[in-house]
Amino acid sequence: MRAVGVRERNGRPEILQARRPEPGEGEVLVRVVAAGLNPLDWKIAEGMLESLVPYDFPLVMGADFAGTVESCGAEAYRFTPGEQVFGHVVSEPVGGGTYAEYVVVNEAGSIARAPTSIPLTTAAGAPTAGMTALGIMDSAALRSYESVLIIGAAGGVGTFLTQLASARGLRVIAATHGHDQARMGAFGAASAVDVRTTELAAAVREEYPGGVDALVDLGSTSAEEFARNTALVRDGGVAVSTLDAASLDALHGRRIEGINYHLAASAELLERLGEEIDSGPLTVPIEVEVPLDEAPGAVARNRAGGARGKTVLLT
Ligand SMILES: NC(=O)c1ccc[n+]([C@@H]2O[C@H](COP(=O)([O-])OP(=O)(O)OC[C@H]3O[C@@H](n4cnc5c(N)ncnc54)[C@H](OP(=O)(O)O)[C@@H]3O)[C@@H](O)[C@H]2O)c1
Repeated sequence: MRAVGVRERNGRPEILQARRPEPGEGEVLVRVVAAGLNPLDWKIAEGMLESLVPYDFPLVMGADFAGTVESCGAEAYRFTPGEQVFGHVVSEPVGGGTYAEYVVVNEAGSIARAPTSIPLTTAAGAPTAGMTALGIMDSAALRSYESVLIIGAAGGVGTFLTQLASARGLRVIAATHGHDQARMGAFGAASAVDVRTTELAAAVREEYPGGVDALVDLGSTSAEEFARNTALVRDGGVAVSTLDAASLDALHGRRIEGINYHLAASAELLERLGEEIDSGPLTVPIEVEVPLDEAPGAVARNRAGGARGKTVLLT
């Protein structure tokens, strides 16, 4: 089958001919219609999980998928062939990814019936970013706050989170790299700050002199950068990093709850995401659809930055 991946750790993504996988016990074989692209994909190919799980090369990249169930292995009863599904899979050993015509998924993992209100090509953009946004809403208990500053709001996770937070009545300040006022407003943001042309601290202080209730930082990779942003959170607030930047040092002993969020993907979270999409108004922010053969270029663009929603790869 056609697939896209790397032949070695940190290798260049390329088109591969891979063996079509067979579903084992408790597994289903999914005919992938589209794979969603996430920064996670190239981070894994660079070796992000090497200390935790074995890698198998050539490594087929990709975690998010939407497609139809092709066949079910022994003792796999959750789905029947022909059903439309979507999900997130990180195989063990790492290498059986979703940038491929077929992928095998454990039925006990993050796989669920696809939302019925959108095409599979759109659903493929939802799992990782959408579940992360939902998980952050849960873990930071953002519902009990009134304002949230989202750094990196224009990307995949940020656009889902902006929609979920504003739908739950939070006032969202969207910090973006670039002028995104209209787009972020359409997702429900109360205001958007282009950090390339406007000083973020001054813009936030103008609206919230005492600081915002919550910060979700999707961009800071260092504790120092994260610390600068937590200065914009009021005492008693919460500050979340998706990049492990929330160290105790970064909080300088302030009365702020710091959370390093890690996605715990599950069928339950995925089903909730599907319900949020089908009941509206959560939309999957597709930026671009590209053929699978062009995945190497799409991965390079994602690494270079500038994401404005989700890239999906059509098989
Ligand atoms: N811990 C977890 O479980 C988990 C789960 C999902 C994602 N993540 C991580 O969270 C990050 C965001 O994920 P994503 O899928 O949303 O990525 P994405 O689609 O690539 O979007 C990231 C967005 O953030 C913007 N950005 C970065 N730094 C910024 C800053 N200082 N100020 C304003 N905007 C900034 C980027 O703009 P430019 O590219 O123009 O800079 C881009 O629009 C990624 O690093 C991802 O690996 C972690």
